[in-house]
Amino acid sequence: MNRFTGKVAIVTGGASGIGAAVCRRIVAEGGKVAVADLNGERAAALAKEIGSAALAVQFDAAEEESIRNLVATTVKHFGSLHVLHNNAADISAAIQVGDTNAVDIDMAVWDRVMNVNLRGYLVGCKYAIPHIAAAGGGSIVNTASGAGLQGDLVRIAYGTSKGAIMSLTRYVATQHAHQNIRCNAVAPGLVITPALKDGDPGLIGILKRHTLLEFAQPEEIASMVAYLASDESRYVTGQVLTIDGGLSIHNPMIADLQDYMTQAGAAAQQNK
Ligand SMILES: NC(=O)c1ccc[n+]([C@@H]2O[C@H](COP(=O)([O-])OP(=O)(O)OC[C@H]3O[C@@H](n4cnc5c(N)ncnc54)[C@H](O)[C@@H]3O)[C@@H](O)[C@H]2O)c1
Repeated sequence: MNRFTGKVAIVTGGASGIGAAVCRRIVAEGGKVAVADLNGERAAALAKEIGSAALAVQFDAAEEESIRNLVATTVKHFGSLHVLHNNAADISAAIQVGDTNAVDIDMAVWDRVMNVNLRGYLVGCKYAIPHIAAAGGGSIVNTASGAGLQGDLVRIAYGTSKGAIMSLTRYVATQHAHQNIRCNAVAPGLVITPALKDGDPGLIGILKRHTLLEFAQPEEIASMVAYLASDESRYVTGQVLTIDGGLSIHNPMIADLQDYMTQAGAAAQQNK
């Protein structure tokens, strides 16, 4: 498939995990990409690996001026813009530890999460939309998360930011459809990115127990992002597509029911 021939994309958080897989995918399908990341060194290394169809841009999604500069640099370098993939999130250890509950959370943590994960996505739209419209239209894809669909015991700021991204997606889709701009979101469940490979085995075990399919690799999220970013999804807008191996679609008690039925079956065998 060559769905991105002649297209230019910006991928934020593009140096690692899901973003890096999207950058590779867009170029593999004929497009050009700005690998945009806070970590300039990693962005430069990926752009070098991909070749001249990639441009590394160091930026901070918490800073409006930095995002404005990212969009301007990309358009100057490649000549136009058709796709924005808002994907960066501050999931650093310091933020994750401080992102607790409504009573205990440090407001600096809340503000940082909202600035990067939510305000950063809005500002990306603000500066990218005029260029996408000038190119005749295109697509914005936001990375939300299953954490934005349900409550959890920790990470109130992260989950709230991801829920708000879903609303932002519907507003942008509604307000800019007349410019031939679509806006959709992906809501991944657990994805095996470098940061999670060494995650807490206890927590990962619990998630595994409730996820119906094998955990996803970043490339499997990139497939959906590429579909939404390309004209193949021309009639799809304002949607949140959950990619979580069935984690959120089943009866919440299913893992307990499974254990119960296994035990009941074993007891029936014993009593025969
Ligand atoms: N991995 C998962 O299981 C999972 C699940 C649901 C949602 N997500 C979402 O997917 C997206 C990508 O995450 P990932 O798992 O690939 O993580 P990752 O850590 O591999 O990639 C995130 C990238 O964002 C960059 N970044 C962080 N703060 C930034 C800032 N202020 N400005 C610019 N870039 C910044 C990081 O440097 C990093 O390269 C995030 O929005 C995350 O919330 C991930």
